[in-house]
This record gives sequence, C-alpha cells and structure tokens, in this order.
Amino acid sequence: MVSLHLLSLLINLLKVGAYNIVSSSPLRLGIAGLGTVGAGVVRLLCEHADLLKTRTGRLLQVVAVSARDRTRDRGIDVTGLQWYDNALDLVQDSNVDVIVELIGGAEGVARTLVEKALKAGKPVVTANKALIALHGYELAMLSADYQVPLLFEAAVAGGIPAIKTVREGLAADRLLRIGGILNGTCNHILTVMRKTGQEFSTVLKEAQDLGYAEADPSTDIDGLDAAHKLTILAGLAFGRPVAFDSVYVEGIRHIAAQDHIFAQHLGYRIKLLGLARKTQNGLQAHVIPCLIPQYAPLAQVDGVFNAVIAEGEFVGRIMIEGRGAGAGPTASAVTADLVDIARGHAMTLWGVQSEVPEPVRACPISTGEAAFYLRLQVEDRPGVIADITAVLRDYGISLQSMLQYPAEKETLSSAESYASSYVPLVLMTHHLTSESAMQAAVAQIGALRVVTDTPVMIRIETP
Ligand code: HSE
Repeated sequence: MVSLHLLSLLINLLKVGAYNIVSSSPLRLGIAGLGTVGAGVVRLLCEHADLLKTRTGRLLQVVAVSARDRTRDRGIDVTGLQWYDNALDLVQDSNVDVIVELIGGAEGVARTLVEKALKAGKPVVTANKALIALHGYELAMLSADYQVPLLFEAAVAGGIPAIKTVREGLAADRLLRIGGILNGTCNHILTVMRKTGQEFSTVLKEAQDLGYAEADPSTDIDGLDAAHKLTILAGLAFGRPVAFDSVYVEGIRHIAAQDHIFAQHLGYRIKLLGLARKTQNGLQAHVIPCLIPQYAPLAQVDGVFNAVIAEGEFVGRIMIEGRGAGAGPTASAVTADLVDIARGHAMTLWGVQSEVPEPVRACPISTGEAAFYLRLQVEDRPGVIADITAVLRDYGISLQSMLQYPAEKETLSSAESYASSYVPLVLMTHHLTSESAMQAAVAQIGALRVVTDTPVMIRIETP
C-alpha cells in the first residue's frame, strides 16, 4: 500500500504537463529549415546555452539539420551536425529527440514532417501558422493519439508570447474577445501612408526595396497571414479549432492616402485588425482594415510592431505588444517552446484536456452589425447627396455624420488634388448598421452615375 502510494507520488513528480517526463539528459534537436528563423534559432541556442541549461536543467543541443543548400553562408557553424538533404530523414535519426519545423507552408514537406514526427513519438516545435490554422484539428488528433506535444508559440505574432498568454496566463478566464494587429507588413505600410501621405503602391514598393515586404506580398497585404494567426488565437481563446475558410478576410490594397487623412480628421486611425468574438449568433472572426479611435491603445502600435488584445470576464482587457517577425523575436518564441519540452511542460494543442474538439465555423460577416465609414468620389452638382441618401434610406441605414470636402489640394494637405467637378464625400453610419444592408446599399450607390469611383467602405471598431 505504502509502496504504491510512493510510486504514484514519484510518477506525479516526474509528470509535469500533458505528455512529458522530466529528464536531465540533453534534449537533442533536429532542425528542418535554415532560413532567417532557423539560423536565428541555432544562434540563440548557442549564445544562450548556459542560460537555457540553468533554466531547464538540460542542454538544448542541435544535433542534426536539414536545408536546401549546404554551401550557403548563414552566419552559423553547422560543422559537426548531421546534415540531411531530405528533412523527413530527421525523423528516422535516433539521435534526434525533438523536431523543429521551420520550413513553412500548410502542405508538402512541412506537413508530412510534422505528421511523421508525431507518429514516431517525437515532439515537434513549429513556427508554421498556415499549417496550424489549416490543419490544427487533425494535428491535435495526432498529438493526442500519440501523446506527443506539438508547440507553435512562434506561429502567432513572432516574439510576443501570445499563445502562452492565452493558453496559460488566461487559462482561468472565459474569453470574450481576442485579436489585434497581427501583420507587421500591413501595419508598417498603413503607418507610413498615414505619416507621409504616400499612396499604398508607393509605400509597398519602398517596403519591398527595404526588405520589410516580400517580393510576392499578397499573403501579407491581402490579410491571409493575419487570418492564419487569428484562426489560431481564436481556437485557443475559445477552446476549439476554428475552420479557417469561415474567417472573413479583407486586405489593405484599397485603402488610399486620403482615407488616412479623413480618418485623422474624424479622430481615427486605420489599422488592419484580426478580431474574433463570441456573439449571440455564434463566433465572429474576421480580418479587416478598421477605423479605430486614435487614442485607443492599439492605435499607438505603429510600424512593424504587432499587438495582441484579449478580453476576459474576470481579467478585463489586456494588450501585449512586440515584434511580430524577424530572426531574433521568432527564435526567442521557438526556443521558449523547446524550453517547455525540456522542462516537461507541454500543453495540449488547443489547451483542453477533453477529446480534441471539432472545428467550429465563424458566422458569415453579413450576419453582423457595425458602424461604417464610406468614402465616395462624386460629381459636385445639386442633388447628388439626395440620390445617395435615398439609397441609404431605402435600406434603413442611418447616418451619424457626413463630410464633403472641397476639392482644393491645400484643404486635404497631402492628399491628391481632385478634378474640380469631383469631390470626396465621407459618410459615417450609426453603429448597429446591418452589414448585409450596408453591402447592398454600397453596391447600389456605387452603380449611381454620379458616383465616379469604386466606393471605399471601412468598418469602425472600438477595440
Ligand atoms: N509576414 C508577417 C508579417 C510575419 O508581416 O507580420 C510573419 O508572420
């Protein structure tokens, strides 16, 4: 009886978290992908080796790597490491305890590697947001079936400990909202547009020249990257995976320099936000450019910085800010996951101990309500406003304010000048305007002969 009790005490002492047994032997790592992040992880593990040993009681040791080009100078020393041309071979290597997947992409080698590693009983750490956002349900099943952790702190907001904050720090609270500024490229572009009055395409080109934006920037500027991150955050916040294809996504290509000027006149700033919240109709989850009050904490987050906000029943609102990308911040997040594994402190994927919950679908954005900013380019002649407001009246849409700016360049400071017969008209609706009514009204307004350009509609949020 006594010995059984002692045995169970010992087991409980050894077992921390969901899956791992604490050990003092080195934790041997196989790293797949030696790009900016992979090289950053190798450098951090080397420079902080003593500190990590003190914190975990173990040596975190890279023993094997896989990348495309063996000869490339990455600023790290890979001599003495086992090199694999095929990343999948890392799984068979009996010297590798943990797979670090830094290849990227929702399919192909990255997905196969993670699945194979879990099936082989090897814990996985990844920075791959697309993989978790699209396949988080199936991967959680594998992780649970094989009792192997899959950790992904670096997948959301780079160096900001967003996953830990939600899954551990806020584990006691019922979350009502989650989201934030989740894409540094968009935040940089919107910030520069606001500060310089330059147009989107000019700022994007400059950002590409400086290496802040990808040569193919569509994943960032069309909102997909932020949607991957929001899908993961919402899954963690609400305890079950969210179907990625149900998240509504709008990018920032249509935002013009003049929208920033008008927003500023009205006391707002424009930010690309990912937001998920529980409503009476179900889960709302969308990535959209928004007008937010200029004094809101999120409005102060500029440049390449990210910020994650959450609101819980007991905790109220919190915001954490930091660098959402780059070798250093991302390596810090990847290594924090390795520390968890070394300490035997690894959580289940969606932070729940029950069976892996089935994915939930976000409700269509058309079922929601919001306040809207609508910018129109219209002919400057009598009756135009009457034509437009007649459409709004027919859809039951009430205006809160309306601004017609004169066409002179000096009034709009750095905005473009307008042909004298066309003027910008900015309408702000009441909050609780039906999204579907607004979409239908804007389509009809856009078709009016007096409206000379595609209307720009931006939702207003108070994050
Ligand atoms: N491309 C992302 C961004 C960083 O611009 O924030 C990696 O997710």
